Amino acid sequence: MRTEKRQGHEGTGPGAITPDGCAVELYTRLPVGAEPDIITSAVPAASHILELGSGVGRITHPLLELGFTVTAVDESAEMLEHVHGARTIPSTIEDLDLGETFDVVLLPSFLIHTGDVRVRGALLDTCVRHVADDGCVLIQREGADWHTDVPRERVDPSGFVVRILSSEPVGDGVDRVHAEYVFPDATWTQTFLSRALTRDGFEEVLEEAGLKVDRYLTDDGVWVRAVKG
Ligand SMILES: C[S@@+](CC[C@H](N)C(=O)[O-])C[C@H]1O[C@@H](n2cnc3c(N)ncnc32)[C@H](O)[C@@H]1O
Repeated sequence: MRTEKRQGHEGTGPGAITPDGCAVELYTRLPVGAEPDIITSAVPAASHILELGSGVGRITHPLLELGFTVTAVDESAEMLEHVHGARTIPSTIEDLDLGETFDVVLLPSFLIHTGDVRVRGALLDTCVRHVADDGCVLIQREGADWHTDVPRERVDPSGFVVRILSSEPVGDGVDRVHAEYVFPDATWTQTFLSRALTRDGFEEVLEEAGLKVDRYLTDDGVWVRAVKG
């Protein structure tokens, strides 16, 4: 578990904020999107999934309903308190070493874009350490124009607005991104560091970790199925 803030990450708004600047209450309110369908399309039914950075279980709970077994890992115990029906493990992803392997390891939420290349390597090492030889790692990466198409906003049909207000270079290929989530009764912000990765750069990083792309699961290249290789 980790309690100290990750450098360059901040969050504001009601309730607990995680070391990477996420608001726990915000994540209890965010609806799930296409993630469970994308995951289902890429893995065998009833797989045991190791979900890294599960948060409050926004994706975990639909996966459980779809018949998967999920082990949910997060460095925020306050996030994990909201996860029900899955084994929960409070831990940083970097330090996770469960001594077991899973059919599927899920690295969602653009965590691979961490500004710190050592952390990025450690995240991928954790994926490799925990995936079965015939299993797969599902990674969610940023879309091609996410650092340049700013400011931008999306109005969610459930009644809130997400804005990416800015993305400013802070050196060494890293951008500081400001995001805002506006609900009728509350506003949360998150500031985080993100290292953009081209598709080639992403594939090189996977190769260094002992992984290779099996296929891109979505046309925008955001969701990727990787295997040992
Ligand atoms: C943006 S939230 C997304 C949560 C969930 N994946 C979702 O889509 O709803 C990122 C989550 O990952 C956790 N997290 C970020 N970096 C982590 C790390 N290195 N180790 C463990 N947890 C991490 C945060 O505490 C937070 O709960």
